[in-house]
Amino acid sequence: MSSTLFFILVMVCFVSGSLSQDANYILGAGIADITGPAADANLMGYANPSQTAGGISIRQFSRAFVIADSKGEKRFVFVSIDAGMQDQGVTLEVISRLKTAYGGLYNETNVAISGTHSHSGTAGFLQFVLFDVTSLGFIKETFEVMVAGIVKSIESAHESMVPGNIYHNEGILLDSNINRSPTAYENNPKEEQARYKYNVDKLMTVLKLVDTNGADIGMINWFAVHGTCMNNTNKLISGDNKGYASQLMEKHFNPGALPGKGKFVAAFASSNLGDVSPNTKGARCIDTGLPCDRNSSTCGGKTEMCIAFGPGEDMFDSTRIIGENQYKKAMELYSVASRMLTGPIGFVHQYVNMTDVTVHYNSSFKGKTCKPSMGYSFAAGTTDGPGAFDFTQGVTEGNLFWNLVRNALKKPSPELIACQHPKPILLATGEMNFPYEWSPHIVDTQILRIGDFAILAIPGEFTTMSGRRVREAVTKEMIANGASANATAVVAGLTNTYSDYIVTYEEYQVQRYEGASTIFGQHTLQAYINQFRNLTTNMMQDKTPPRGPIPKSLIDDQVSFLPPVFFDETPIGKSFGEVLTDVSGTTFKKGSVVQAVFQAGNPRNNLRTGESFMTVEYLDPTKQTWTVVHTDADFCTRFIWTRTSTLLGHSEVTAYWDIPLDTPMGTYRLRVFGESKDIAQKISSYEGTSSQFKVTQ
Ligand SMILES: *[C@@H]1O[C@H](CO)[C@@H](O)[C@H](O)[C@H]1NC(C)=O
Ligand SMILES: *[C@@H]1O[C@H](CO)[C@@H](O)[C@H](O)[C@H]1NC(C)=O
Ligand SMILES: *[C@@H]1O[C@H](CO)[C@@H](O)[C@H](O)[C@H]1NC(C)=O
Ligand SMILES: *[C@@H]1O[C@H](CO)[C@@H](O)[C@H](O)[C@H]1NC(C)=O
Ligand SMILES: *[C@@H]1O[C@H](CO)[C@@H](O)[C@H](O)[C@H]1NC(C)=O
Ligand SMILES: *[C@@H]1O[C@H](CO)[C@@H](O)[C@H](O)[C@H]1NC(C)=O
Ligand SMILES: *[C@@H]1O[C@H](CO)[C@@H](O)[C@H](O)[C@H]1NC(C)=O
Repeated sequence: MSSTLFFILVMVCFVSGSLSQDANYILGAGIADITGPAADANLMGYANPSQTAGGISIRQFSRAFVIADSKGEKRFVFVSIDAGMQDQGVTLEVISRLKTAYGGLYNETNVAISGTHSHSGTAGFLQFVLFDVTSLGFIKETFEVMVAGIVKSIESAHESMVPGNIYHNEGILLDSNINRSPTAYENNPKEEQARYKYNVDKLMTVLKLVDTNGADIGMINWFAVHGTCMNNTNKLISGDNKGYASQLMEKHFNPGALPGKGKFVAAFASSNLGDVSPNTKGARCIDTGLPCDRNSSTCGGKTEMCIAFGPGEDMFDSTRIIGENQYKKAMELYSVASRMLTGPIGFVHQYVNMTDVTVHYNSSFKGKTCKPSMGYSFAAGTTDGPGAFDFTQGVTEGNLFWNLVRNALKKPSPELIACQHPKPILLATGEMNFPYEWSPHIVDTQILRIGDFAILAIPGEFTTMSGRRVREAVTKEMIANGASANATAVVAGLTNTYSDYIVTYEEYQVQRYEGASTIFGQHTLQAYINQFRNLTTNMMQDKTPPRGPIPKSLIDDQVSFLPPVFFDETPIGKSFGEVLTDVSGTTFKKGSVVQAVFQAGNPRNNLRTGESFMTVEYLDPTKQTWTVVHTDADFCTRFIWTRTSTLLGHSEVTAYWDIPLDTPMGTYRLRVFGESKDIAQKISSYEGTSSQFKVTQ
């Protein structure tokens, strides 16, 4: 705390000195590793129990930005994490640790943490039952690495703060997203649809952060697209398209630095992506190749036959293309960003009990939100990752069989059924409290402000039209309170608390997956619009609204069924780290793949946070020393772990390198690192090294 005060004093002196005329703000950026267990843990997003981690494609990172006014008096933190979403329990724990470290400087009101919505991060970190069902409950390791990493990224942003400026720019990015529930979108009023050229937002928003010398500090980017390029068969941890876009931009501005180790931080954050897919080829029947039934996204009545595909040859290639598209557009917008933001730093936050909000649309029409419930079509999944059994999208009538199953869990009350209408309730999560709550009841609502630029911290996934409505309501309110005609609001999705989806009233009637997952009922969006309008008024008038009902951390109540690592063993005559299959030659052309297989332990024994399970190393021809050029965090590498015998505790890892075309020619080797656990539970480190090989033209 005292060092913070000292720091602020130094900043104030600096800012009021001669150099500082052109610095409107004080800015810092930080990054830290938050990768969960690369084995055994379920991946978060598709709710597919068989999708358990088996290695790493790209590591998950937390990217934090501290933005303060030029006097260092008011500040906020915006964090984007490569994860399925941000959870309320994680937020509460991060805030509590920040309070310990910084006193009152950072708290719930001025810290926003947003998930990129990658569907290939590790699961088990959320505090509500529904979200942890397929991960066999809570996974302490995932929770802890996320909390610690988020805090670390904020600390490093805090410590790097320097006077600087922020430039805003925005532009259209095509060929990178499509609407996956067009029949719901088309139920919105025709006049409203006619105002927009596309049925998804193509707008990319960029904030460019530079110091007083114009040196690059970082970028925050918002573009609405799901993190579902990697599909529900993937087993490698990945930040998906946004994680890769971040990696590309950070590589550009941090030449020579390994992923997660450079100063420049580029966050590709999530936005109103509720109904937005990166699988731009769209959905088709995998048996016949024909289009699926539009209303239900089925083929011959079956959901699992209707799947959307991305622009690439396979899911890695699609991740590359959608990631690269965002990166290239971001670079273009960043390089010419010229609208300098000026004006006060502000923030406003309120907890809201979303289960019982009366919603006034206008003088003659009102409604009420409900306790949480999931509808039938929730179980159908989406064309990005279909569900199972006989569930389909667009269902507004339940059936006797599934109602029987549902009632065995919890029969919904008549009030809940009436309130959630026309959603047929599959899971009455708002009335299920065993062993603890199944869905959130209290959510965070929050706005962060840089002059006339507002970041709307949305506790869930807004659909395209939902995002447009709330942005419009907020900018109108800002302008009514004195903001310029340039006033801009962006939706920062999946922030602070995850409360599933939010669709418009009209989309809700259609009950596609997103409508079925709008847990607080058909008036949810309008409740948020009213709430964010109110927050805007408070923010613009520099008022602090009441704190609202305070949510509980349920972390101490969590139950976990994921067994620990029992032990690791090697087959007789082998040792940990031993090469089982060496690289397949002595020379490899750029653009080809080189790989080697090693005897291994379970990577859960040590997450190697901030380090790596594998490296690609280059031999300096004059000094004859090895330098690490890639880690397991790089997109060009894959660290693949496989259990070869559960009974005997045997496992193997593959170090895989898809040699990039810009790789310098020379001599290289692959190495792996890990830990094994013996029967006595003692953990020992091992490493393994492949033979050397040459990379040629
Ligand atoms: C959060 O911090 C701000 C600024 O220091 C302070 O005004 C506010 O009362 C704090 N709120 C809570 C809930 O701790
Ligand atoms: C699809 O839904 C729309 C709107 O509910 C309806 O008019 C149409 O008949 C449906 N089409 C089919 C093929 O079921
Ligand atoms: C996932 O992508 C792979 C290609 O990378 C493809 O072979 C597979 O069919 C896809 N599976 C699903 C369920 O989309
Ligand atoms: C809006 O921003 C542009 C670009 O910075 C600027 O030229 C213009 O004056 C601004 N308009 C208003 C009303 O502030
Ligand atoms: C939320 O509101 C409902 C309805 O007013 C109330 O019954 C419930 O106790 C509230 N929940 C919390 C956690 O405050
Ligand atoms: C009130 O809002 C409802 C729902 O948007 C709309 O159908 C109705 O026409 C509105 N009435 C007035 C008087 O604006
Ligand atoms: C919004 O503010 C108005 C008046 O300022 C108040 O009557 C209303 O209750 C507030 N609504 C919410 C949702 O806080």
